[in-house]
Amino acid sequence: MAESHAAERAPIYEFDYIADAGLIEDCHARYWQLKEEAPPVFWTSANGGHWVCNTGAAVTQVLRHPETFSSRILSIPPNPDQPKMIPEMLDPPEHRPYRQMLRPFFESKAIAPLEARVVEWTDQLFDGIVDKGECEFVSEIASRLPVAIFMELFGFPMEKFEEFRRLVVDFFNARATVDERSRLGMTILGHLTELIQARMAKPEDDMISKIITSKVDDRAPSFEELLSIGFLMFLAGLDTVTNAMSFGMRHLAHDEKLRQKIIDNPDEIPNLIEELLRRYAFVATPRYIVEDIELEGAQLRAGDSILAPLPLVGWDEKLNADPETVSVNREFYRHAAFGSGIHTCLGLHLARMELAIFYRAWFQKIGHFTQVEQGDETCRGGSVMALEHLHLAWEKPDSQSA
Ligand code: HEM
Repeated sequence: MAESHAAERAPIYEFDYIADAGLIEDCHARYWQLKEEAPPVFWTSANGGHWVCNTGAAVTQVLRHPETFSSRILSIPPNPDQPKMIPEMLDPPEHRPYRQMLRPFFESKAIAPLEARVVEWTDQLFDGIVDKGECEFVSEIASRLPVAIFMELFGFPMEKFEEFRRLVVDFFNARATVDERSRLGMTILGHLTELIQARMAKPEDDMISKIITSKVDDRAPSFEELLSIGFLMFLAGLDTVTNAMSFGMRHLAHDEKLRQKIIDNPDEIPNLIEELLRRYAFVATPRYIVEDIELEGAQLRAGDSILAPLPLVGWDEKLNADPETVSVNREFYRHAAFGSGIHTCLGLHLARMELAIFYRAWFQKIGHFTQVEQGDETCRGGSVMALEHLHLAWEKPDSQSA
């Protein structure tokens, strides 16, 4: 593997994308600093040794060329035993039939009927929160809404909500050991197995029943494929929406002008969502290099891994003027928060819908708010970065009318 050649890799800049102290303190500030001071593409010895893209152009190049930058090993350090997640860990030509099979379930028109339920879930969640005047946003709101919506969409019985929420929180907990995470992974697979078997026996009006009866290359998907797809949805659709909400709300807590703008004109919410995703994208996706290639002056070798931090695309001055500033007045919001190329997020319409309904409800029911720092607002590093806690406070409805 790459380690044996480490001495030949250049330029070198040491950066641990999982445990770097600056990243834990504030992942976006650290990646921004990296962008300013590290080479355009560099090698680090951390996590077994790998390359890191450090410009938006390098990230785009990696994502758009799956023939050179493969998704077949989607972890750094490489773990060849990682269970295959379909379609994210497939390269062309295998990737396409699965993507074609799944796409119809995620198109705007397929997602639209879910909207009324998302509004209901959101309202229910806010009912218990608004009068309190404060909350720990990540655990009380951001990590709850996507779980409820995923369960509803996919077909899980809602009685299992609390059990599922716990499972998701524990699974994504940065402090979970490898053993704990693999035990939780097995529990998740157990729930998926139960659901798939039940729907194979008796289909209902939910996404998993529809996936079971659809075709990949003119044949029915196998049980293992269904399990793999379900597991990916679980990983891809829960934690990500939570993180988008948390990073977005942390910004808004410190930007009174922007909050006022949204309160005065909620029609700006779609722009707000794109701009917050652009400024605070939080995925850094790995790729496995299958042929020697030069990238921004660095000589990459077949068998090496490379990390593509997606925030860099939205921070590229050539794509967005004054990228550090958060503004809903941009003509275009160019970013790769949802990826780019063949693996671009399938759930992006659903994610945008969840975020839009959430922001609308927040600004209608709560309005202005502030962050109350308690010293535990650290980030989780890795491939999908997260904000661990976010304490927010606002005027209680009574005190507003008094
Ligand atoms: C704000 C929320 C979300 C963000 C930022 C996000 C981001 C991403 C990114 C960056 C990728 C590409 C990864 C790569 O190239 O290696 C991806 C892929 C994917 N996402 Fe999302 N995602 C979000 C929500 C969702 C939701 C709600 C679902 C569905 C329930 C979902 C399902 C998927 C799937 C199935 C893929 C794999 C697509 C493929 O390989 O063709 N995502 N997502």
